[in-house]
Amino acid sequence: MGVFDSGVGGLSVYRWIKELLPHERVIYLADTARLPYGLKPQAVVREFVIQIVGFLVDLGAKAVVIACNTATAAGLEAASGRFSIPLVGMIGPGAREAVRATRNRRVGLLATEGTVRSGAYQRAIRQLDPEVEVFARGCTPFTTLVEEGRTEGPEAEEVVREQLAWFADKDIDTAILGCTHYAFLRSVISRVLGPSVTLVDPGRAVAEELAQLLRSQDLLNRGCETAPEDAFYTSGSPRRLQEMVQLLLGLPAPSVGQVSWPG
Ligand code: DGL
Repeated sequence: MGVFDSGVGGLSVYRWIKELLPHERVIYLADTARLPYGLKPQAVVREFVIQIVGFLVDLGAKAVVIACNTATAAGLEAASGRFSIPLVGMIGPGAREAVRATRNRRVGLLATEGTVRSGAYQRAIRQLDPEVEVFARGCTPFTTLVEEGRTEGPEAEEVVREQLAWFADKDIDTAILGCTHYAFLRSVISRVLGPSVTLVDPGRAVAEELAQLLRSQDLLNRGCETAPEDAFYTSGSPRRLQEMVQLLLGLPAPSVGQVSWPG
């Protein structure tokens, strides 16, 4: 199946998919040349989504996970109308997890500007429970930290502290890691928000939804004894993606193909 993100953030979803569906072959695409999606207009990101899903379908993907909240908000609906294979996005599963986790019905959303402005999480949560209040904050610098591999240490902690100071008087008991990059900052974010705030990483719920979809449509890969070899592509530097797979996932460097978009 295909999995994509604007960069390495989607690797946080990839690792859940590998855990729950070890026999499935994944084609991962990092659209690093066009990162960040979070600061681009929705219509532009929507076109990226259509283009990338098409690219993954051409490579034989039987399902696609949009492992990027910004791309899900901008393009899941449009892509679902265009392609017949199952598509899974981040926001539905993330909203469900957050509503399940909150006790005081005050939920923080840490996401890109694009996701916050789209109102997609706010709408999804309201539909599940209209009493839940969402406090949304764009945390753009987090994406840069992760892309640069700075997921720990005093510098990361200072940036996270600065960005999350806004939540200090919001009395949230749950916070959604509403950008797949932020999952790699989980321990710093957790330290900054403190033990009274439950962090929701939608990645696991997304992998569960994917597993269920594949099962219900009889698309699961059966009878595969050894783990299949995944394929990695990037529109940025293949060397850099290799390094990031090693750094963020602790896996041996995979071979990475280069993608260049027309125009
Ligand atoms: N990882 C992407 C997300 O989940 C966002 C990063 C970006 O701005 O490109 O929203």
